[in-house]
Amino acid sequence: MTYQITALPGDGIGPEILSGTLQILEKLSKKYHIDYNLETYDFGGAAIDNYGDPLPTSTLEACEKSDAILLGAIGGPKWNDHPKRPEAGLLALRKNLELYANLRPTKVVEGATRFSPLKEERVAGTDFVIVRELTGGLYFGEPKKLEENQAIDSLTYTKDEIERIAHAAFQLAENRNNKLASVDKENVLASSKLWRQTINKVSENYPNVEVEHLLVDACSMHLITRPTQFDVIVTENLFGDILSDEASVIPGSLGLSPSVSYGQKGTKLYEPIHGSAPDIAGKNIANPTGMVLSLAMCFRETFNQNEAADELENIVYQLIKDGITTPDLGGKASTEDIFNQILQQL
Ligand code: NAD
Ligand code: IPM
Ligand code: MN
Repeated sequence: MTYQITALPGDGIGPEILSGTLQILEKLSKKYHIDYNLETYDFGGAAIDNYGDPLPTSTLEACEKSDAILLGAIGGPKWNDHPKRPEAGLLALRKNLELYANLRPTKVVEGATRFSPLKEERVAGTDFVIVRELTGGLYFGEPKKLEENQAIDSLTYTKDEIERIAHAAFQLAENRNNKLASVDKENVLASSKLWRQTINKVSENYPNVEVEHLLVDACSMHLITRPTQFDVIVTENLFGDILSDEASVIPGSLGLSPSVSYGQKGTKLYEPIHGSAPDIAGKNIANPTGMVLSLAMCFRETFNQNEAADELENIVYQLIKDGITTPDLGGKASTEDIFNQILQQL
């Protein structure tokens, strides 16, 4: 089979972290006899500049026909006052492809505890996945409007939306350590009350999975004090956005975290969780690890090539253990240095 892949470099550090990743894709695919067809499209600010739209029809159609989308990052100060921001393109892409489940893993690998801002003994062994609901909640609820003296965002969830993300999370927990933490704000929000009821109902289908309910404020604290006790965390869109950036620095840097998003349609979107990092764009110092680990997820999830994914992940983790890192982890390596090391070792 020939896989169809769409590359979306985007803005800021996006093109810097994606270009070397596509070279890795080429090399690793040859090694494991994976056939693919790759096309690159404008997205985000780059697409606003060329088409006046962050998600042009040509880009959306290419994505819809793809097995996998590899996205760098979008956004930047240049487009903050544009009527349609780059971020709106990303939200529209997720919504159009119905990518309701977003998996964001955090792992502190053995031999790399020293990069954590937390005490090494506290983070050793950390290995959990945040399952973030991606197409509902405050991001998409109506009405949504900004007037001179009032602004409205609506936090809505239907039972169906909660059920499908709950099944995704329980299934993942069953394939891991049968532990699920569901995060909400049930003491205040109606949507969280429905969330908790629905999680409890869905849990009846997964008797082996132990469920813990946490309020989001307390969870943000527990992530720091007891990160090793989490396995799968499921939460709504905005809470997942915030908690996953927090989680990403447990191993040392926002530049480390990958993600995959999926729905019923089959197309999967692979992207690091960080943004376009305008403060370091163009300097060849962005950490490409989150992007490269997203490619490893693509080998695992789309190509069904666990061995290739393991090989790539091991190379990436070994570089970190050896202290061959970009400046965000205290090293002196450039983005290109990291890519050259990975390519050489493949
Ligand atoms: P950001 O994630 O871009 O950067 C936050 C901080 O982390 C910055 O100091 C940055 O230099 C650092 N950082 C991020 N990724 C890094 C990497 N790979 N290597 C080293 N350092 C890294 O968040 P921000 O500055 O709040 O947002 C910048 C723009 O990115 C905004 O327009 C925002 O909307 C957008 N954004 C896009 C995505 C996406 O494309 N998926 C995600 C988050 C933010
Ligand atoms: C992310 C980003 C996006 C989000 C923005 C850019 C719309 O922060 O992927 O985490 O909030 O989902
Ligand atoms: Mn985010």
